[in-house]
Amino acid sequence: MNRIETITSQCDDADLARLLRAAGRAALTGGSIIRELYGKPHNIEMKGAINLVTEADLASETGIVASLNEDLPGIAIMAEESAGDSPSRPEGRSWIIDPLDGTTNFAHGFPFFAVSIALVEDAVPLVGVVYCPMQDELFCACRGRGAWLNSDRISVTATRFPVEALVATGFPYDIHARLDTVLRQLRSVLPKVRDIRRAGAAAIDLAYVASGRLDGFWEMDLKPWDTAAGWLLVEEAGGRVSDFAGNPYSAFRPEILASNSVLHEQLIDMLT
Ligand code: IPD
Ligand code: CA
Ligand code: CA
Repeated sequence: MNRIETITSQCDDADLARLLRAAGRAALTGGSIIRELYGKPHNIEMKGAINLVTEADLASETGIVASLNEDLPGIAIMAEESAGDSPSRPEGRSWIIDPLDGTTNFAHGFPFFAVSIALVEDAVPLVGVVYCPMQDELFCACRGRGAWLNSDRISVTATRFPVEALVATGFPYDIHARLDTVLRQLRSVLPKVRDIRRAGAAAIDLAYVASGRLDGFWEMDLKPWDTAAGWLLVEEAGGRVSDFAGNPYSAFRPEILASNSVLHEQLIDMLT
């Protein structure tokens, strides 16, 4: 049995299983397009001063959208490269897609990037998939049914003390406007934890919290396609996701704090 069938066979709701199967196939499709283009010369265009888009972002998005429309036609789609800068909260069911999370890494040959696909209903994720093509790692979550890496169930860490925690963050593209806040948060967190990573792909940061490779993650100014799938992964793996003050998270809010749950209040204290 392939890994998507292994997971969907453990998802006892036929509707969710169908959505997960489609999301998984689309993520593998996008990932194989990106892998094919990795290491070749790129067409780089600028969306902002440091915000890139390459031919791989566009080709992956086209492949993912075609795969989803073929498997489950008629569901609305919000995909980064065609959605515009300020997407509105979708009503009903919608796919939320980041065809290549970690474009800067991809363009520099740093092999840490992913495809992220979530199916949301009234902006709440029911299914989330993050696929890392270079590692061939497929992270999946299904609301109320759990989270998996490839065919194995995953869960967050039980780390209780910040000094034993490996946490991650990311820096917003408009860093000049946010520098004081970003540095204040780093100054507060860095001396209290074991170490901090900034690996450059928010969807993977969240998948790594879900799978216990990280104990926590925070970032500001992310978009719904960066976080919708990873949010569900963390919650289904037993973690907690909120804004920096501990309020319930929404992918349409500008800040995210994800953790193993045990460390959450301590991280809130450090960030606020
Ligand atoms: C970016 C990555 C990065 C994060 C940025 C995101 P992109 O997504 O997730 O880690 O710091 O804020 O926009 O542009 O590579 O899809
Ligand atoms: Ca992204
Ligand atoms: Ca992207």
